[in-house]
Amino acid sequence: MVVYPQRSVLSVPGSRPDMIEKALRSEADLVFIDLEDSVAPEAKAGARRHVITALSELEWRGRPRAIRVNGLDTPYFYRDLIEVLEAAGGWLDLVVVPKVGAAADVYVVTTLLAQIEAVIGKAQPTRLHVQIETAQGLLNCAEIARSSERLDALTFGPGDYAASVQMPSTAIGMPDEWDRQYPGHRFGYAMHQILVAGRAAGIQVIDGPYADFRDSDGLRAACLRARALGYDGKWCIHPAQIPIVNEVFTPTPAEVRWAQETLAAYERIRAGGQGALAIGTTMVDAASVRMAERTIARARSAKVLE
Ligand code: COA
Ligand code: MG
Repeated sequence: MVVYPQRSVLSVPGSRPDMIEKALRSEADLVFIDLEDSVAPEAKAGARRHVITALSELEWRGRPRAIRVNGLDTPYFYRDLIEVLEAAGGWLDLVVVPKVGAAADVYVVTTLLAQIEAVIGKAQPTRLHVQIETAQGLLNCAEIARSSERLDALTFGPGDYAASVQMPSTAIGMPDEWDRQYPGHRFGYAMHQILVAGRAAGIQVIDGPYADFRDSDGLRAACLRARALGYDGKWCIHPAQIPIVNEVFTPTPAEVRWAQETLAAYERIRAGGQGALAIGTTMVDAASVRMAERTIARARSAKVLE
């Protein structure tokens, strides 16, 4: 069960200690230090050392301490996990695993984690976020979502997904001229499958990044689309994106009011033995109560409600 909020999930390159410090001072709900795609191959080894320092020495302001390792299809993955955990595993709370294609990938990660945790004497199991961003991963996402107790979230990766299914695209997570040719949202199918897989497994579901960090209108539209589907949050690649993401993934005062009024009205009629009522011209029943309870839970997690 996830206890930490994750509306905004900021990625920061492991090769940039200056940025890591800024990321940790930001208002992002979650920050992870990246060893994967934002770090050049020549800088991977050095980035592991920066990660170890950041995990053990920097102030994370109450957030889980998180990193993203390289994928299992690279020569970097095993060293990422072994070197970082052996040196700073006691400080590490969460690992983001990219390009997960099958439940067997999660098995590899959890087996290795369990061994290292046993050696370093770490009692608290390291948690996982897995990225669904390939055709293979999407096909297997229901199984992946249930593959380990360690899983806290599935994350959609729009850039790698577009590449994997050969969708023409020039910018990560952003609409382009091809969207005008398609009557709908091209990521809708993938995002909805991932959402359902995550929810069926009782874990969180997070949308990937929006590449243009100056395009706040485009980012807001992308956040609203993910929020409308039911996603919990969205990755950020730049601090400027954090306030927009936090805002969109926090229930509005009107939503909270609706939820409170719905719950109160239902409580009143239920006491009289009734199961449905009208608020204005709208029917409210036990399903409305479940929707309202979700809104209240989100508002509490975002700390806009006691
Ligand atoms: N985390 C922390 N700080 C960041 C940051 C991030 N992800 N992205 C930018 N910043 C900082 C910059 O260091 C800069 O700080 P300064 O004003 O003290 O110099 C400030 O925010 C403004 O940055 P800006 O000049 O607008 O952008 P940039 O050209 O320095 O960086 C990117 C642009 C895209 C290279 C950078 O945002 C980045 O590396 N993002 C993360 C990429 C990533 O993690 N990708 C993998 C996940 S998809
Ligand atoms: Mg990716």
